[in-house]
Amino acid sequence: MHLDDRLQALADFVPEGSRAADIGTDHGYLAVALIQQGKSSFVVAGDKNRGPYEAARRTVRENVLEEEQVSVRLGDGLAVLQPGEVDTVCIAGMGGVLMTAILESSPSITAELKTLILQPMNGAMELRGWLYDHAWHIVDESLVIDDGRIYEIIKAERGSRKKPSGLDLLVGPKLWRKKPPLLKHHIEALLFQQRRILNGMEKSDRAKGDKRFGQVKRRVKALEERLKW
Ligand SMILES: C[S@@+](CC[C@H](N)C(=O)[O-])C[C@H]1O[C@@H](n2cnc3c(N)ncnc32)[C@H](O)[C@@H]1O
Repeated sequence: MHLDDRLQALADFVPEGSRAADIGTDHGYLAVALIQQGKSSFVVAGDKNRGPYEAARRTVRENVLEEEQVSVRLGDGLAVLQPGEVDTVCIAGMGGVLMTAILESSPSITAELKTLILQPMNGAMELRGWLYDHAWHIVDESLVIDDGRIYEIIKAERGSRKKPSGLDLLVGPKLWRKKPPLLKHHIEALLFQQRRILNGMEKSDRAKGDKRFGQVKRRVKALEERLKW
């Protein structure tokens, strides 16, 4: 199974020898590749919708894998898992806030996990903040570009650490430290987004009176500074 760069970046973060789950698996490509690449000994591929569930079953069948290697399950979030059944959970291609809702809604499963690998489509700042507020910390991050869009991949492990600043939560604390080649592109995209919010606020007196206006203004300035490194 050949993965595109985005899914391969998730696979790269999966610990060797893990028992993993891919929640919101859709086609099941990541789950199958984790077995084929020898990363995981067992993978649960979960999806709450029947179409993707059937597609994942087909992918597993076509790749001649057994239920003991990839178990495809229909259900909401982590409810498809038993406590302690897996140590690593991957969630990709959903909003960051939905990811936090999925993690919060099954506390007995989440409590047994060691590693999270997350690729949010939006809300990465809120997701990073949630991780630090819930005794997780970020151990690695990467950026991938596909079709002109930048994707952030976050690897988190259990354990409380000091929460990074708001700007670091927006940019990605490990990305800022590692400075991968796509970082400038990533910060430019964040700056574009924040400037658009600021422009919208500048058109309304009420928004301009809100304390969020000052926050966004400071964030734009700070991102501009970061582009000068
Ligand atoms: C955009 S697709 C992403 C597929 C794949 N993870 C990827 O990144 O290529 C999102 C998938 O998540 C599933 N999904 C959405 N909410 C879910 C939930 N609460 N529990 C399980 N699956 C969910 C959808 O049915 C869909 O198949």
